[in-house]
Amino acid sequence: MKTILVTGGAGFIGSHTCLVLLKKGFNVVIVDSFINSSKKVINKIKEICFLENIKSEKKINVFKCDLRDTLKLREIFATCKNDGNDIESVIHFAGLKSVNDSITFPFEYWDVNVSGTVSLLRVMNENNCKTLVFSSSAAIYKADKFELLKECSDIIPITPYGNTKAYIEIFLKDIFKSAKGEWKIANLRYFNPIGSHHTGLIGEDPKQSMNNIFPIILKVASKEIDKFKIFGNDWPTADKTCVRDYIHVMDVAEGHLKTLEFLSSNKSQVLDLNLGTSKGTSVLELIHTFQKVNNIKVPYVFTFRRDGDKPFVVANNQLAKKLLKWAPIRTLEDMCRDGWNYQKNN
Ligand SMILES: NC(=O)c1ccc[n+]([C@@H]2O[C@H](COP(=O)([O-])OP(=O)(O)OC[C@H]3O[C@@H](n4cnc5c(N)ncnc54)[C@H](O)[C@@H]3O)[C@@H](O)[C@H]2O)c1
Repeated sequence: MKTILVTGGAGFIGSHTCLVLLKKGFNVVIVDSFINSSKKVINKIKEICFLENIKSEKKINVFKCDLRDTLKLREIFATCKNDGNDIESVIHFAGLKSVNDSITFPFEYWDVNVSGTVSLLRVMNENNCKTLVFSSSAAIYKADKFELLKECSDIIPITPYGNTKAYIEIFLKDIFKSAKGEWKIANLRYFNPIGSHHTGLIGEDPKQSMNNIFPIILKVASKEIDKFKIFGNDWPTADKTCVRDYIHVMDVAEGHLKTLEFLSSNKSQVLDLNLGTSKGTSVLELIHTFQKVNNIKVPYVFTFRRDGDKPFVVANNQLAKKLLKWAPIRTLEDMCRDGWNYQKNN
């Protein structure tokens, strides 16, 4: 069976994707520096495999490695080859993801995200491994209108984080053009992945500063944080709070499998795809749904708007649905229930 290298495979989206790949029978090689994740996640993945009768013995290999360490990456590719596990494709999650931190630490963000990707692509190229799925982001879009964002919508990121994603997409297009007919690349632009695997054994548990809305809601619900801060109640939306496109992390993970299948059965190309639900949910709607589904209080306060926030960021997901024969199937209620289940277990 084919071997897939998953960079950042111990992280939030990476760990869920590893499960989906294992379930499909792939061998998985995880490369992670564990800067924002824990080695315990690997055992949790194995535990879920055991519970769900998914063969994982000898199917997961884990290497602690920073992607910027090109020499070590070369060794990992060579080790896999010598073991008869030639790496066939790469799903590239590894990177730093806090929009706020990226404003404070631009050197770190450009280095980890961009230099890490250059190092990875260099070693892939040397090993003639030319199929890549890259974790891009909705943060690259200008998103200044109340319209569903299409892949061809304006790309004008406003933070260093968004800039790194947009420039990596450009870099990947340059690589594609440099060797016509060889590379198969998909830039998956995620909207707001939340929730967790239904067992509650893996989920979003960042070691670094928490910026994403959902882990903060979970901490407020479990009383580790007093109150949830809603940034602005004067936005031009129905309930005056920001609207986002929340998507269950398992739907995102399954989108990666479908993307790999699409790339492997189609010609060389570089593809940009939105992974979202096309449904907008306001911050207040998310909190109210979470409270109702889990029968728990999430106290909140309104505070000032954050610089750079946008009122409405929602995907048009038609292209991904059409090309990948994929569709998000889990509801906002599922996301809230599964996410809380993870928090209670951990
Ligand atoms: N979670 C979201 O809301 C979201 C939205 C859009 C895009 N993305 C992108 O998707 C990817 C995965 O996101 P996530 O939420 O799973 O993040 P995460 O932080 O949970 O996972 C990223 C993983 O990469 C590892 N890593 C970081 N730098 C590394 C390096 N230099 N070398 C090797 N490993 C390294 C971390 O230890 C972590 O395990 C990221 O690239 C992120 O920017 C995430």
